[in-house]
Amino acid sequence: MALTQKDGFSSKFGVIAAAAGSAVGLGNIWRFPYITGENGGGAFLLLYIFFVIVIGVPVMMSEFVIGRRSESNALGSFRKLAPGTSWWLIGLMGIIAAFVILSFYSTVSGWTLEYVFQSINQGFEGKSMDQLNSDFETFTSGSFRPLLWQMIFMALTAVVVLGGIQKGIEKATKILMPILLVLIIAVCVRSVTLPGASEGLKFLFEPHFEKLNFKSVLMALGQAAFSLSIGMGALITYGSYINKDTPLLSTSIQVAAADTLLAILSGVMIFPALFALGVGNTGGPGLVFVTLPAIFQSMPGGTFFAVAFFLLVSVAALTSTISVLEVVVAYLKQEFNISRLKATMIGTISISILGVFCTLSFGPLKDNTIFGKTVFDLMNYLSANVFLTFGALFIVIFTGWILGKSNFVDELNKSGKVNPVVTKVLFIIIRYIAPVAIGAIAIGTFFIEGLT
Ligand code: PFF
Repeated sequence: MALTQKDGFSSKFGVIAAAAGSAVGLGNIWRFPYITGENGGGAFLLLYIFFVIVIGVPVMMSEFVIGRRSESNALGSFRKLAPGTSWWLIGLMGIIAAFVILSFYSTVSGWTLEYVFQSINQGFEGKSMDQLNSDFETFTSGSFRPLLWQMIFMALTAVVVLGGIQKGIEKATKILMPILLVLIIAVCVRSVTLPGASEGLKFLFEPHFEKLNFKSVLMALGQAAFSLSIGMGALITYGSYINKDTPLLSTSIQVAAADTLLAILSGVMIFPALFALGVGNTGGPGLVFVTLPAIFQSMPGGTFFAVAFFLLVSVAALTSTISVLEVVVAYLKQEFNISRLKATMIGTISISILGVFCTLSFGPLKDNTIFGKTVFDLMNYLSANVFLTFGALFIVIFTGWILGKSNFVDELNKSGKVNPVVTKVLFIIIRYIAPVAIGAIAIGTFFIEGLT
């Protein structure tokens, strides 16, 4: 009977759509461009790609292996694979990270819906950059509208998650991801054909290594983890729904490649447009919401591209938020033996409560700071640079030293034998190289920069 059958992905394409859907999100389109801008452009991009290959793919694979082998949620998987130990605490950290990420992520996701609405109503028409900037500030510093959009976004996320894996998450991502790709390519073509666009491409692709410092290294690693959705158990959770015929190595490579391509395309979408407008690499979280509308309203067919752009950002955000909510829902459902409906309600409501504080950080709670940061900034910073980096660190240590080589290789070989040289190299990275590299960066931050 369908009800008792275990819910899981139905095909490899389904797995890739869902995992790439998780990976491609605000991290690519909203976060990557402004962080790259703040860290000097091309050289940062190279550093970022280096981390995706050397750290990202092995951690992603480790998460898939942990999830599929245990067939359990982010916390239950550690308990199952290392019973009687404290490793489940890493899972718990992942669940907390999911709360932290979704709380601020849903704020920005809500903004994207407001901007879809405004673009449809041609709300940017005839406005100068200054006006658009003050519109953005007026909107984000309000309470009612940003909260309303945030709640609508959380509700949309909940509806997909309620549908379950095959009929909710897989179905939604299989439809939305191709749409996202088409929209992004359309906006890219428009952006690179703007007069003066080549300066932007130069900024994105020309490396100036002198602009890098230790903080850029941390930011690149944190951004890679955030963008690939690694380090908190989203991919452990998805891994538990992957069947044994799906090859985990090629899936991880394809998901990481798709995510990196989409980050680069986002840069290609944004930097040429920025330079064409003559504003250079000014950035920060408002980048996408101020500068791009300024460009859209000044070009032919602007309304169409504005709607396309904000719609694609919302779609990208939605396919990511469902993966974060699923971490919490799978945990509640399995560990407390409650229905998906109940788990989704509890998860959505409790995350939304923390989310309210993030949204209000731009208005009524602007001056309530912790370590000199607003709640939003703190959650944004903590998620990538603390939770996900330490999460990734412990996940590779777990795979390399606790799960062990034979279990790891056995799981990878379930769908057909992987070349032993490849598995050997991968395991060396997971056991030695990745922990040392991630550990050095994560710990170094505390000594050098603290939380600032
Ligand atoms: N990878 C998503 C993005 O780039 O927007 C964000 C994210 C989703 C982070 C899921 C972590 C996660 F577990």
